[in-house]
Amino acid sequence: MEFSIKQSSPEKLKSACLVVGVFEGGKLSPAAQVLDKAAEHALSDVIARGDMSGKATSTLLLHKLPGIAAERVLLVGLGKASELNNKTSLDIIDATFKALHATPAKDAALYITDEGVGKDAAWVIKQAVLSAAEHAFRADSMKSKPSKAATLKNITFASLEKPSTALKNTLEQAAAISRGMGLTKALANLPGNICTPTYLAANALALDKAHKSIKTTVLEEKDMQKLGMGSFLSVTRGSEQPAKLITMEYSGADKKQKPIVLVGKGITFDTGGISLKPGADMDEMKYDMCGAASVFGVMQAIAEMGLKLNVVGIIPTCENMPSGKATKPGDIVTSMSGQTIEILNTDAEGRLILCDALTYAAKFNPDTVIDIATLTGACVIALGHVASGMFSNEVKLAQELIAAGEQTHDRVWQMPLWEDYQPLLDSNFADMANIGGRAGGTITAACFLARFTKDYRWAHLDIAGTANLSGKNKGATGRPVPLLTQYLINRTAAK
Ligand code: BES
Ligand code: MN
Ligand code: ZN
Repeated sequence: MEFSIKQSSPEKLKSACLVVGVFEGGKLSPAAQVLDKAAEHALSDVIARGDMSGKATSTLLLHKLPGIAAERVLLVGLGKASELNNKTSLDIIDATFKALHATPAKDAALYITDEGVGKDAAWVIKQAVLSAAEHAFRADSMKSKPSKAATLKNITFASLEKPSTALKNTLEQAAAISRGMGLTKALANLPGNICTPTYLAANALALDKAHKSIKTTVLEEKDMQKLGMGSFLSVTRGSEQPAKLITMEYSGADKKQKPIVLVGKGITFDTGGISLKPGADMDEMKYDMCGAASVFGVMQAIAEMGLKLNVVGIIPTCENMPSGKATKPGDIVTSMSGQTIEILNTDAEGRLILCDALTYAAKFNPDTVIDIATLTGACVIALGHVASGMFSNEVKLAQELIAAGEQTHDRVWQMPLWEDYQPLLDSNFADMANIGGRAGGTITAACFLARFTKDYRWAHLDIAGTANLSGKNKGATGRPVPLLTQYLINRTAAK
């Protein structure tokens, strides 16, 4: 999909479909007023006859209006200006692209930035780009007859006023974020028999090849052995697929600048291991690499943007399988940090691969480390599918992540890392157990990770409820790529 931005008078703009807004009660947005005048009041007539109420998310497609160069005009209801908030704005944008994609139009010009669709033009453009891409996304590449690609290919954000350079920059960034989300979703939706650790490693090497600014290295099991990653290696023991530790280094700033490190959980399939999961919906455990997939999406997006920062993406990736060789409940392993772990449940494997990757992350002398993981089912119970769980050992970092989440509507909710929870991880035989019981399951998982991240500023995102949808709409969401890229963009602005 191609996006552009320009100033133009709506009646003269040649397009397969123009989009303009109408407020509840029939008041026309500025661009709609211009069109109405040029088209002998065709718009106000339609409203007077009651075909368009202006209710938020309502749409009406008009054809061949007199005096208007565009083939179609799509009226979009904006609701009451006083009732507009982020949620209604997003619903309006979503309804707009749903209606546009239902037409045969190959291109569209939207007058939605200077007239009350959302809080400001930059916000509207960003969300519109993501919505356009979401509606064009197809998840059926593996069907023998995949559905047709979306016909809508070119989107113009048109305005009566001249767009600023900052707004053009925002559009470029939004397009890069949408492509990053596309990569994240495509990887995440792949089944476990195709998207193996080896497949992810090949993908990381492909990103290296495509971008001069990205350097990828892949460590093999024997390398991890040398590093003492006994915890990570204990998870892959039952699998026939070799584990990989992928590192992608993006250099966008001076070498001396400390990098921000992103660590993504890359379990390409989680059976639970010997602590086997129940059968129902187990297929969804192919999504247990969504943290890793989001790191891929972010790395690609920032490389396309040429963001002036150094960022390292680290992906520990393997399968969690039962077998005669698999790790058993009660087994004790030694992590790279030297701390020993009693594995009481082999299904709590995410923290076991992450703890070694987090110890490894310190080698990069990081400014900040953020890990992203589909870590606990308990997080889905706590926050549902709306907010990602967020933990941090620093107040400022937590605030920055909350802000970036609000900005992009890819929101997080902070949960406590209080010492009071730590005793739940006590083990009679090792330095710690890998589970803390049913109570506060999301928190004790984070507390486990906190024992490995004491030397740097750190945040943990539990995306178990937000990375993918279940049931009829099963599929990856591309979250938290918007949140993370916005956080990184904000970090460059702060410098
Ligand atoms: N990958 C799962 C967490 C998960 C569950 C993500 C459901 C998305 C949906 C993780 O490895 C896991 O199995 N966690 C266990 C931890 C428990 C054994 C302490 C869980 O949540 O049940
Ligand atoms: Mn598990
Ligand atoms: Zn898992």
